[in-house]
Amino acid sequence: MALSVLPASKCSSHYQFYRTSIIQQTTRKSAMIIRMTASSGGGAGGQLASYEEGELERPNWTGQTPLSRLVGALISFKPLYSVLKLGARQVLISTAEKTNVPWREMTKEILESDVYKEMESIENPSIVYPDYYLSPFHAYDEGNLSWLAAAEAEAATMSMVRRAIPDASSLDEANEIVRGNWLNAIEKHHQQYSGNLEIKDILDIGCSVGVSTRFLADKFPSAKLTGLDLSPYFLAVAKYKEKINPQKSNSFEWIHANGENTSLDSQSFDIVSISYVLHECPARATVNLAKEAFRLLRPGGTFVVTDNSPKSKKLQQLSPVLFTLMKSTEPFLDEYYLLDLEKTVKDAGFVNVQTILTDPRHRTLTATVPY
Ligand SMILES: C[S@@+](CC[C@H](N)C(=O)[O-])C[C@H]1O[C@@H](n2cnc3c(N)ncnc32)[C@H](O)[C@@H]1O
Repeated sequence: MALSVLPASKCSSHYQFYRTSIIQQTTRKSAMIIRMTASSGGGAGGQLASYEEGELERPNWTGQTPLSRLVGALISFKPLYSVLKLGARQVLISTAEKTNVPWREMTKEILESDVYKEMESIENPSIVYPDYYLSPFHAYDEGNLSWLAAAEAEAATMSMVRRAIPDASSLDEANEIVRGNWLNAIEKHHQQYSGNLEIKDILDIGCSVGVSTRFLADKFPSAKLTGLDLSPYFLAVAKYKEKINPQKSNSFEWIHANGENTSLDSQSFDIVSISYVLHECPARATVNLAKEAFRLLRPGGTFVVTDNSPKSKKLQQLSPVLFTLMKSTEPFLDEYYLLDLEKTVKDAGFVNVQTILTDPRHRTLTATVPY
Protein backbone atom coordinates (compact mmCIF):
# COMPACT_ATOMS: atom_id res chain seq x y z
CA MET A 1 0.00 0.00 0.00
CA ALA A 2 1.38 3.41 -0.89
CA LEU A 3 1.50 6.37 1.38
CA SER A 4 -0.88 9.07 0.37
CA VAL A 5 -3.20 11.76 1.58
CA LEU A 6 -6.92 11.35 1.99
CA PRO A 7 -9.49 14.11 2.17
CA ALA A 8 -10.82 14.59 5.68
CA SER A 9 -14.23 13.23 4.72
CA LYS A 10 -12.69 9.96 3.46
CA CYS A 11 -10.42 9.27 6.40
CA SER A 12 -11.34 6.80 9.06
CA SER A 13 -10.37 7.84 12.57
CA HIS A 14 -7.17 5.79 12.78
CA TYR A 15 -5.67 7.69 9.89
CA GLN A 16 -3.59 10.73 10.46
CA PHE A 17 -4.16 13.13 7.70
CA TYR A 18 -3.81 16.62 6.45
CA ARG A 19 -6.87 18.68 5.92
CA THR A 20 -6.55 21.28 3.23
CA SER A 21 -8.75 24.30 3.37
CA ILE A 22 -9.36 26.96 0.84
CA ILE A 23 -8.71 30.20 2.66
CA GLN A 24 -9.21 32.51 -0.21
CA GLN A 25 -10.93 32.17 -3.49
CA THR A 26 -10.89 34.89 -6.05
CA THR A 27 -13.47 35.26 -8.78
CA ARG A 28 -11.16 33.50 -11.22
CA LYS A 29 -12.44 30.03 -12.01
CA SER A 30 -9.29 28.15 -11.06
CA ALA A 31 -7.30 30.52 -8.91
CA MET A 32 -7.45 29.33 -5.36
CA ILE A 33 -5.07 29.81 -2.53
CA ILE A 34 -4.77 26.61 -0.59
CA ARG A 35 -3.14 26.41 2.82
CA MET A 36 -2.52 23.39 4.97
CA THR A 37 -4.02 23.12 8.37
CA ALA A 38 -2.57 20.40 10.52
CA SER A 39 -5.04 17.87 11.76
CA SER A 40 -4.30 15.27 14.40
CA GLY A 41 -0.70 16.33 14.82
CA GLY A 42 0.01 16.66 11.11
CA GLY A 43 1.68 19.85 9.99
CA ALA A 44 4.02 19.75 7.06
CA GLY A 45 6.08 17.03 8.73
CA GLY A 46 3.14 14.90 9.92
CA GLN A 47 2.24 11.40 8.78
CA LEU A 48 0.12 10.77 5.76
CA ALA A 49 -2.80 8.40 5.37
CA SER A 50 -3.17 5.73 2.71
CA TYR A 51 -5.19 5.14 -0.42
CA GLU A 52 -5.69 1.58 -1.40
CA GLU A 53 -3.64 0.36 -4.35
CA GLY A 54 -4.82 -2.13 -6.95
CA GLU A 55 -3.40 -5.64 -7.05
CA LEU A 56 -1.37 -5.15 -10.23
CA GLU A 57 1.86 -3.31 -10.95
CA ARG A 58 0.04 -1.45 -13.71
CA PRO A 59 -3.38 -1.63 -15.41
CA ASN A 60 -3.68 -4.70 -17.64
CA TRP A 61 -4.89 -2.47 -20.48
CA THR A 62 -1.37 -1.04 -20.73
CA GLY A 63 2.05 -2.44 -21.56
CA GLN A 64 2.56 -5.74 -23.40
CA THR A 65 -0.53 -7.63 -22.21
CA PRO A 66 -2.93 -9.31 -24.72
CA LEU A 67 -5.64 -6.81 -23.73
CA SER A 68 -3.31 -3.89 -24.34
CA ARG A 69 -2.30 -5.32 -27.73
CA LEU A 70 -5.94 -5.83 -28.70
CA VAL A 71 -6.78 -2.21 -27.86
CA GLY A 72 -3.68 -1.08 -29.78
CA ALA A 73 -4.74 -3.07 -32.85
CA LEU A 74 -8.26 -1.61 -32.71
CA ILE A 75 -6.92 1.93 -32.44
CA SER A 76 -4.49 1.46 -35.33
CA PHE A 77 -7.39 0.58 -37.66
CA LYS A 78 -7.87 4.04 -39.23
CA PRO A 79 -11.68 4.11 -39.74
CA LEU A 80 -12.21 2.97 -36.17
CA TYR A 81 -9.63 5.44 -34.87
CA SER A 82 -11.57 8.34 -36.40
CA VAL A 83 -14.77 7.21 -34.70
CA LEU A 84 -12.97 6.69 -31.37
CA LYS A 85 -11.32 10.09 -31.61
CA LEU A 86 -14.69 11.79 -32.06
CA GLY A 87 -16.21 9.66 -29.31
CA ALA A 88 -13.39 10.51 -26.92
CA ARG A 89 -13.88 14.20 -27.55
CA GLN A 90 -17.61 13.99 -27.03
CA VAL A 91 -17.25 11.99 -23.81
CA LEU A 92 -14.69 14.51 -22.55
CA ILE A 93 -16.93 17.53 -23.15
CA SER A 94 -20.15 15.95 -21.90
CA THR A 95 -18.47 14.52 -18.78
CA ALA A 96 -17.02 17.94 -18.05
CA GLU A 97 -20.34 19.72 -18.46
CA LYS A 98 -22.16 17.14 -16.34
CA THR A 99 -19.87 18.13 -13.47
CA ASN A 100 -20.51 21.84 -14.03
CA VAL A 101 -17.30 22.59 -15.90
CA PRO A 102 -18.57 25.08 -18.50
CA TRP A 103 -16.35 23.68 -21.26
CA ARG A 104 -17.92 25.39 -24.29
CA GLU A 105 -18.42 28.70 -22.51
CA MET A 106 -14.80 28.83 -21.34
CA THR A 107 -13.53 27.90 -24.80
CA LYS A 108 -15.62 30.59 -26.46
CA GLU A 109 -14.41 33.20 -23.99
CA ILE A 110 -10.78 32.53 -24.89
CA LEU A 111 -11.32 32.21 -28.63
CA GLU A 112 -13.16 35.55 -28.67
CA SER A 113 -10.58 37.36 -26.55
CA ASP A 114 -7.39 39.28 -27.34
CA VAL A 115 -5.25 36.24 -26.60
CA TYR A 116 -3.84 36.22 -30.14
CA LYS A 117 -1.87 39.39 -29.42
CA GLU A 118 0.33 37.48 -26.95
CA MET A 119 1.70 35.14 -29.60
CA GLU A 120 4.32 37.48 -30.99
CA SER A 121 6.08 38.02 -27.67
CA ILE A 122 5.82 34.34 -26.65
CA GLU A 123 6.78 32.32 -29.71
CA ASN A 124 10.39 31.25 -30.03
CA PRO A 125 10.89 31.14 -33.81
CA SER A 126 13.99 28.98 -33.58
CA ILE A 127 12.38 26.19 -31.57
CA VAL A 128 12.79 22.65 -32.90
CA TYR A 129 9.83 20.50 -31.90
CA PRO A 130 10.58 16.89 -30.95
CA ASP A 131 8.94 14.46 -33.39
CA TYR A 132 6.52 13.06 -30.79
CA TYR A 133 5.05 16.52 -30.33
CA LEU A 134 4.01 16.88 -33.96
CA SER A 135 1.58 13.96 -34.19
CA PRO A 136 -2.20 14.20 -33.64
CA PHE A 137 -2.96 14.16 -29.96
CA HIS A 138 -5.90 14.49 -27.55
CA ALA A 139 -8.22 14.31 -30.57
CA TYR A 140 -6.68 17.46 -32.08
CA ASP A 141 -5.06 16.93 -35.50
CA GLU A 142 -2.37 19.51 -34.69
CA GLY A 143 -1.82 18.13 -31.19
CA ASN A 144 -1.13 20.96 -28.73
CA LEU A 145 -0.19 23.36 -31.49
CA SER A 146 -3.58 25.01 -32.06
CA TRP A 147 -5.79 27.75 -30.63
CA LEU A 148 -8.64 25.30 -30.06
CA ALA A 149 -6.44 23.01 -27.92
CA ALA A 150 -5.21 26.06 -26.00
CA ALA A 151 -8.71 27.45 -25.46
CA GLU A 152 -9.98 24.10 -24.16
CA ALA A 153 -6.98 23.29 -21.95
CA GLU A 154 -8.21 24.83 -18.70
CA ALA A 155 -11.63 23.16 -18.94
CA ALA A 156 -9.86 19.86 -19.68
CA THR A 157 -7.71 20.32 -16.57
CA MET A 158 -10.76 21.03 -14.41
CA SER A 159 -12.49 17.98 -15.80
CA MET A 160 -9.47 15.78 -15.04
CA VAL A 161 -9.63 16.94 -11.42
CA ARG A 162 -13.37 16.22 -11.21
CA ARG A 163 -12.87 12.73 -12.66
CA ALA A 164 -10.19 12.00 -10.05
CA ILE A 165 -12.56 12.79 -7.18
CA PRO A 166 -16.04 11.92 -8.49
CA ASP A 167 -17.65 12.23 -5.06
CA ALA A 168 -16.50 15.81 -4.54
CA SER A 169 -19.41 18.22 -4.39
CA SER A 170 -17.55 20.92 -6.30
CA LEU A 171 -14.43 21.60 -8.33
CA ASP A 172 -12.94 23.44 -5.37
CA GLU A 173 -13.37 20.41 -3.15
CA ALA A 174 -11.76 18.17 -5.79
CA ASN A 175 -8.89 20.65 -6.20
CA GLU A 176 -8.32 20.65 -2.44
CA ILE A 177 -7.41 16.99 -2.77
CA VAL A 178 -5.74 16.74 -6.18
CA ARG A 179 -3.80 20.01 -6.22
CA GLY A 180 -3.68 20.51 -2.45
CA ASN A 181 -2.10 17.13 -1.71
CA TRP A 182 0.43 17.57 -4.52
CA LEU A 183 1.48 20.97 -3.15
CA ASN A 184 1.70 19.61 0.37
CA ALA A 185 3.90 16.73 -0.79
CA ILE A 186 6.30 19.27 -2.33
CA GLU A 187 6.37 21.39 0.82
CA LYS A 188 6.88 18.40 3.08
CA HIS A 189 9.69 16.95 0.95
CA HIS A 190 11.45 20.30 0.65
CA GLN A 191 11.27 20.97 4.39
CA GLN A 192 12.65 17.53 5.11
CA TYR A 193 15.52 17.32 2.64
CA SER A 194 16.52 20.71 1.21
CA GLY A 195 18.72 21.81 4.11
CA ASN A 196 16.69 25.03 4.45
CA LEU A 197 17.15 26.00 0.81
CA GLU A 198 14.87 29.01 0.41
CA ILE A 199 12.23 28.64 -2.31
CA LYS A 200 12.97 31.62 -4.55
CA ASP A 201 12.74 30.20 -8.06
CA ILE A 202 10.25 27.61 -9.30
CA LEU A 203 10.15 26.12 -12.78
CA ASP A 204 6.93 24.52 -14.04
CA ILE A 205 7.85 22.36 -17.06
CA GLY A 206 4.84 21.64 -19.27
CA CYS A 207 2.92 24.49 -17.65
CA SER A 208 0.24 24.43 -20.38
CA VAL A 209 -2.08 27.42 -19.83
CA GLY A 210 -0.59 28.13 -16.40
CA VAL A 211 -3.04 26.40 -14.05
CA SER A 212 -0.33 24.42 -12.24
CA THR A 213 1.92 27.50 -12.27
CA ARG A 214 -0.73 29.55 -10.47
CA PHE A 215 -1.27 26.83 -7.88
CA LEU A 216 2.48 26.76 -7.20
CA ALA A 217 2.50 30.55 -6.95
CA ASP A 218 -0.33 30.55 -4.42
CA LYS A 219 1.44 27.95 -2.30
CA PHE A 220 4.83 29.70 -2.43
CA PRO A 221 3.92 33.42 -2.53
CA SER A 222 7.47 34.76 -2.38
CA ALA A 223 8.80 32.66 -5.26
CA LYS A 224 9.38 33.75 -8.84
CA LEU A 225 7.54 31.41 -11.21
CA THR A 226 8.75 30.33 -14.63
CA GLY A 227 6.24 28.47 -16.77
CA LEU A 228 7.81 26.61 -19.68
CA ASP A 229 5.99 24.77 -22.46
CA LEU A 230 6.41 23.58 -26.03
CA SER A 231 3.10 25.08 -27.16
CA PRO A 232 3.20 28.82 -27.83
CA TYR A 233 -0.61 28.73 -28.04
CA PHE A 234 -0.90 27.42 -24.49
CA LEU A 235 1.68 29.93 -23.26
CA ALA A 236 -0.20 32.76 -24.95
CA VAL A 237 -3.31 31.77 -22.97
CA ALA A 238 -1.23 31.58 -19.77
CA LYS A 239 0.19 35.05 -20.33
CA TYR A 240 -3.18 36.51 -21.33
CA LYS A 241 -4.82 35.11 -18.17
CA GLU A 242 -2.03 36.47 -16.02
CA LYS A 243 -2.50 39.87 -17.62
CA ILE A 244 -6.24 40.05 -17.06
CA ASN A 245 -5.94 38.61 -13.56
CA PRO A 246 -2.55 39.48 -12.10
CA GLN A 247 -1.25 37.57 -9.10
CA LYS A 248 -0.56 39.84 -6.14
CA SER A 249 2.84 38.73 -4.91
CA ASN A 250 4.61 36.41 -7.35
CA SER A 251 6.29 37.38 -10.57
CA PHE A 252 5.86 35.21 -13.66
CA GLU A 253 7.85 34.46 -16.78
CA TRP A 254 6.59 32.31 -19.66
CA ILE A 255 9.13 30.50 -21.84
CA HIS A 256 8.56 28.70 -25.11
CA ALA A 257 11.11 25.87 -25.05
CA ASN A 258 11.58 22.14 -24.91
CA GLY A 259 11.80 20.95 -21.28
CA GLU A 260 14.27 18.29 -22.40
CA ASN A 261 16.82 20.95 -23.30
CA THR A 262 15.79 24.36 -22.01
CA SER A 263 18.99 26.44 -22.46
CA LEU A 264 18.28 27.96 -19.03
CA ASP A 265 21.19 28.41 -16.59
CA SER A 266 22.34 25.42 -14.56
CA GLN A 267 21.45 25.44 -10.82
CA SER A 268 19.01 28.33 -11.19
CA PHE A 269 15.88 26.82 -9.54
CA ASP A 270 14.88 25.58 -6.08
CA ILE A 271 11.88 23.56 -7.28
CA VAL A 272 11.28 22.01 -10.69
CA SER A 273 7.77 20.66 -11.17
CA ILE A 274 6.39 18.50 -13.98
CA SER A 275 2.66 17.90 -13.57
CA TYR A 276 0.49 15.76 -15.83
CA VAL A 277 3.09 15.91 -18.62
CA LEU A 278 4.87 12.55 -18.59
CA HIS A 279 1.90 10.40 -19.65
CA GLU A 280 1.95 12.48 -22.83
CA CYS A 281 5.64 11.76 -23.51
CA PRO A 282 7.62 8.84 -24.88
CA ALA A 283 10.04 7.27 -22.38
CA ARG A 284 13.08 8.84 -24.06
CA ALA A 285 11.64 12.32 -23.43
CA THR A 286 10.98 11.49 -19.76
CA VAL A 287 14.61 10.41 -19.34
CA ASN A 288 15.76 13.73 -20.83
CA LEU A 289 13.30 15.76 -18.75
CA ALA A 290 14.62 14.18 -15.53
CA LYS A 291 18.24 14.90 -16.54
CA GLU A 292 17.41 18.49 -17.43
CA ALA A 293 15.57 19.01 -14.13
CA PHE A 294 18.65 17.74 -12.30
CA ARG A 295 20.87 20.21 -14.17
CA LEU A 296 18.54 23.13 -13.48
CA LEU A 297 18.12 22.59 -9.73
CA ARG A 298 20.38 24.02 -7.06
CA PRO A 299 21.90 21.53 -4.56
CA GLY A 300 19.14 20.69 -2.07
CA GLY A 301 16.51 21.57 -4.68
CA THR A 302 13.32 19.53 -5.01
CA PHE A 303 12.09 17.78 -8.14
CA VAL A 304 8.40 16.89 -8.24
CA VAL A 305 6.43 14.87 -10.76
CA THR A 306 2.72 14.25 -10.50
CA ASP A 307 0.73 12.12 -12.95
CA ASN A 308 -1.35 8.95 -13.34
CA SER A 309 -0.34 6.18 -10.96
CA PRO A 310 0.14 2.72 -12.49
CA LYS A 311 -0.79 1.31 -9.08
CA SER A 312 -4.04 3.23 -8.80
CA LYS A 313 -6.89 0.83 -8.12
CA LYS A 314 -9.27 3.22 -9.87
CA LEU A 315 -7.18 3.22 -13.06
CA GLN A 316 -6.68 -0.54 -12.92
CA GLN A 317 -10.46 -0.93 -12.75
CA LEU A 318 -11.34 1.51 -15.53
CA SER A 319 -14.08 0.22 -17.84
CA PRO A 320 -13.06 -1.09 -21.30
CA VAL A 321 -14.98 1.70 -23.01
CA LEU A 322 -13.14 4.37 -21.06
CA PHE A 323 -9.64 2.94 -21.38
CA THR A 324 -10.11 2.34 -25.11
CA LEU A 325 -11.27 5.92 -25.62
CA MET A 326 -8.40 7.21 -23.50
CA LYS A 327 -5.77 5.19 -25.34
CA SER A 328 -7.11 6.39 -28.67
CA THR A 329 -6.04 9.97 -27.86
CA GLU A 330 -2.95 9.33 -25.70
CA PRO A 331 -0.31 7.66 -27.90
CA PHE A 332 2.36 7.21 -25.19
CA LEU A 333 0.35 5.68 -22.35
CA ASP A 334 1.94 2.24 -22.76
CA GLU A 335 5.45 3.68 -22.60
CA TYR A 336 4.49 5.81 -19.61
CA TYR A 337 3.10 2.89 -17.62
CA LEU A 338 6.02 0.60 -18.50
CA LEU A 339 8.76 3.05 -17.51
CA ASP A 340 10.28 2.69 -14.05
CA LEU A 341 9.98 6.35 -13.08
CA GLU A 342 11.80 6.03 -9.74
CA LYS A 343 14.79 4.39 -11.45
CA THR A 344 14.79 7.02 -14.20
CA VAL A 345 14.90 9.77 -11.58
CA LYS A 346 17.63 8.03 -9.56
CA ASP A 347 19.66 7.44 -12.73
CA ALA A 348 19.49 11.19 -13.40
CA GLY A 349 21.34 11.72 -10.08
CA PHE A 350 18.51 12.45 -7.64
CA VAL A 351 18.37 11.13 -4.06
CA ASN A 352 15.53 10.77 -1.52
CA VAL A 353 13.23 9.54 -4.30
CA GLN A 354 9.76 8.99 -2.85
CA THR A 355 6.39 8.26 -4.41
CA ILE A 356 3.00 8.62 -2.77
CA LEU A 357 -0.53 8.36 -4.07
CA THR A 358 -1.84 11.87 -3.58
CA ASP A 359 -5.36 11.04 -4.78
CA PRO A 360 -7.09 7.88 -5.98
CA ARG A 361 -5.69 8.20 -9.52
CA HIS A 362 -2.42 10.10 -9.25
CA ARG A 363 1.02 9.62 -7.76
CA THR A 364 3.42 12.36 -6.72
CA LEU A 365 7.13 11.63 -6.88
CA THR A 366 9.53 13.91 -5.02
CA ALA A 367 13.32 13.85 -5.09
CA THR A 368 16.33 15.94 -4.08
CA VAL A 369 19.52 17.10 -5.77
CA PRO A 370 22.32 16.12 -3.36
CA TYR A 371 24.55 18.86 -1.92
C1 LIG B 1 -1.58 18.09 -19.57
S1 LIG B 1 -0.57 19.43 -19.92
C2 LIG B 1 0.07 19.92 -18.36
C3 LIG B 1 -0.88 20.54 -17.44
C4 LIG B 1 -0.36 21.40 -16.33
N1 LIG B 1 1.01 21.17 -15.94
C5 LIG B 1 -1.26 21.21 -15.14
O1 LIG B 1 -0.84 20.58 -14.15
O2 LIG B 1 -2.40 21.67 -15.19
C6 LIG B 1 0.88 18.77 -20.65
C7 LIG B 1 1.75 19.88 -21.20
O3 LIG B 1 3.07 19.38 -21.43
C8 LIG B 1 3.60 20.09 -22.53
N2 LIG B 1 4.77 19.35 -23.00
C9 LIG B 1 4.84 18.10 -23.52
N3 LIG B 1 6.12 17.78 -23.81
C10 LIG B 1 6.88 18.86 -23.42
C11 LIG B 1 8.27 19.14 -23.44
N4 LIG B 1 9.16 18.26 -23.91
N5 LIG B 1 8.70 20.35 -23.00
C12 LIG B 1 7.81 21.26 -22.52
N6 LIG B 1 6.49 21.04 -22.49
C13 LIG B 1 6.03 19.86 -22.92
C14 LIG B 1 2.44 20.16 -23.48
O4 LIG B 1 2.60 21.16 -24.45
C15 LIG B 1 1.28 20.44 -22.53
O5 LIG B 1 1.06 21.79 -22.38
